[in-house]
Amino acid sequence: MNEAQNIQEIKESTRIRKPILEIKDLRKSFGNNHVLNGFNLQLFEGENLVIMGKSGSGKSVMIKCLVGLMQADSGSIKVMGNDINTLNEHDLNELRTEIGFLFQGSALYDSMTVRENLEFPLRRHKHKFGIVKEKTPLVIEALESVGLVDAIDLMPAELSGGMQRRVALARTLILKPKIILYDEPTSGLDPITAKEIIELMRRIQREYKTSSLIITHDVDCARVVSERMVLLVDGINYAEGTFETLKNSNDEKVKAFFK
Ligand SMILES: Nc1ncnc2c1ncn2[C@@H]1O[C@H](COP(=O)(O)OP(=O)(O)OP(=O)(O)O)[C@@H](O)[C@H]1O
Ligand SMILES: [Mg+2]
Repeated sequence: MNEAQNIQEIKESTRIRKPILEIKDLRKSFGNNHVLNGFNLQLFEGENLVIMGKSGSGKSVMIKCLVGLMQADSGSIKVMGNDINTLNEHDLNELRTEIGFLFQGSALYDSMTVRENLEFPLRRHKHKFGIVKEKTPLVIEALESVGLVDAIDLMPAELSGGMQRRVALARTLILKPKIILYDEPTSGLDPITAKEIIELMRRIQREYKTSSLIITHDVDCARVVSERMVLLVDGINYAEGTFETLKNSNDEKVKAFFK
């Protein structure tokens, strides 16, 4: 290989490994409860990264700091090269449309139909989508991608848990985000429905070329969807690697996840 090829190769690999999301030294305490103690993370373009941590370890707190629902005590969060602490309100809002967030549970608006639930984020981001017309095709398109067009006029209470999760995912997809954050996408679902959601997540990543951060307790989900995993223990990124490497680790704290 000549030098030019070599340089080209290095360029290629760094291009592929470009972080779309970067968290450095994130800290968050609630009084004496020190939840995040210097958490670091990089999510690369097009990657499915799984974060596991036991209940109460701070996974949701971390993701809430990421989307600005919670203020971290210190640390930096960069999204597509922008430090979110330095952005003004307008630019921050713009950036938020690039990040889809699937909440723990499905968090649909109970008093709105499926259609209205999906129109809601479009109306909130008028600058990106313009005035939302009645019966916009975007809603149908998003529902098609989760296989639920027929549910368009139903209320959330009329849907099963798995269907609600899919509608919530459609509501996330409608903004065509570059990054999707999933907080426990399969919790509370039976194994078969959980599998369907996992398949859907993989399909979405392939079709929309999104980068995803997936928080889960579910070892099966982690095995199937993750290209890389980060274990959150004691408020830090305690261990990182592929499912296989972590599963074969000799570290007691890591082993505990796979029991
Ligand atoms: N708004 C809040 N005020 C005070 N303490 C909070 C708040 N939100 C979270 N905590 C605390 O932060 C810690 C981490 O909570 P978090 O919800 O991030 O856990 P988690 O890892 O997502 O757990 P689970 O797997 O059960 O969802 C817990 O001790 C929780 O009590
Ligand atoms: Mg949580």
